[in-house]
Amino acid sequence: MIDPFGRTITYLRLSVTDRCDLRCVYCMSEDMEFLPKADLLSLEELERLADAFLRLGVRKLRLTGGEPLVRRGIMDLIKRLGKHVAAGRLDELTLTTNGTQLAVCAEDLAKAGVRRINVSLDSLDPAVFRRITRTGDLKKVLTGIAAAKAAGLMVKINAVALKGITEYEVDCLVAWCGEQGHDLTLIETMPLGDIDGDRLDQYLPLDAVRRHLEQRWTLEPLTVSSGGPARYVHVAETGRKLGFITPLTEHFCASCNRVRVTCTGTLYPCLGQEDAVDLRAPLRAGESDALLERAIMAAIDHKPEGHDFIIDENHRRPALSRHMNTTGG
Ligand code: GTP
Ligand code: 5AD
Ligand code: SF4
Repeated sequence: MIDPFGRTITYLRLSVTDRCDLRCVYCMSEDMEFLPKADLLSLEELERLADAFLRLGVRKLRLTGGEPLVRRGIMDLIKRLGKHVAAGRLDELTLTTNGTQLAVCAEDLAKAGVRRINVSLDSLDPAVFRRITRTGDLKKVLTGIAAAKAAGLMVKINAVALKGITEYEVDCLVAWCGEQGHDLTLIETMPLGDIDGDRLDQYLPLDAVRRHLEQRWTLEPLTVSSGGPARYVHVAETGRKLGFITPLTEHFCASCNRVRVTCTGTLYPCLGQEDAVDLRAPLRAGESDALLERAIMAAIDHKPEGHDFIIDENHRRPALSRHMNTTGG
């Protein structure tokens, strides 16, 4: 799959549910309405979809949400998808999770062939964590992360930069990740969906965070890339990697290798644009995957060049109406 800008698409982010047991302030509104269960693709349909993408050249598959591990039966799907890793058809099967279910799932994930997971964690202070997630229990997430580590999974921590919070939390996160052996990625908040508050009140550009960090830590730029949007540095004092995802202050779209599919089977060729193609109808049209594969290829042929997120005095409204839990990042 090669898009009009010459980018080869090898990475699928597949959202398996829009539901989540947390309500992070940058992601959702407090009284978020979720999709009726009947609208979701079944686990069998999700698998058929993933298989089609694999046939078309995808080598990395990340399950997202919402929170992927709250979807009933998800471990069965993960086990089935893991067989592609064992057979060499897939380089990596991974997920982005909020960590609340890891204490229960970590062992099974490792057994299924998952080697690396990304866990969202914006603060190590229980009260601040509760304020950001509106409902979360930090202890549960830390227990989950410890279980993942014990099961042999590599853990990368994702923290969204939030004004008035991250300035105070970030040193602690860097130090803790160093002690625990986790890489850390900081992310600029993107204007996706209505969230009750004002995005400008939350938005903290990462160049400011980086200047703050440089006063205490030695950050050595790295040229390696995970193929993802993060630019990495090596933290000399901890020996761990620290990534910066800067959709607002610095574009990384030129090297984009990914597309995402929602839990209702809508393919978004770009996280930051409205363009979308329905895959559920071709998926349900019959046993053959010919229509499905044609629809996927047509979407790749129209992958936009990139996004144009802005948050400033004149752009306080969401750039896109859909929330992050719809597309899973
Ligand atoms: P690896 O590189 O495999 O470690 O993962 P990743 O950084 O691609 O995945 P992760 O799910 O941890 O995403 C981290 C953040 O990057 C999330 O906030 C995503 O929304 C954001 N992100 C992922 N892909 C894109 C993209 O194509 N465009 C933009 N603007 N943000 C993205
Ligand atoms: N901007 C940036 N990152 C976000 N995430 C959720 N909503 C937003 C947003 N509006 C992050 C989560 C998770 C990843 C999938 O996306 O923290 O790490
Ligand atoms: Fe849930 Fe992740 Fe959204 Fe937080 S950011 S509400 S954990 S989906």
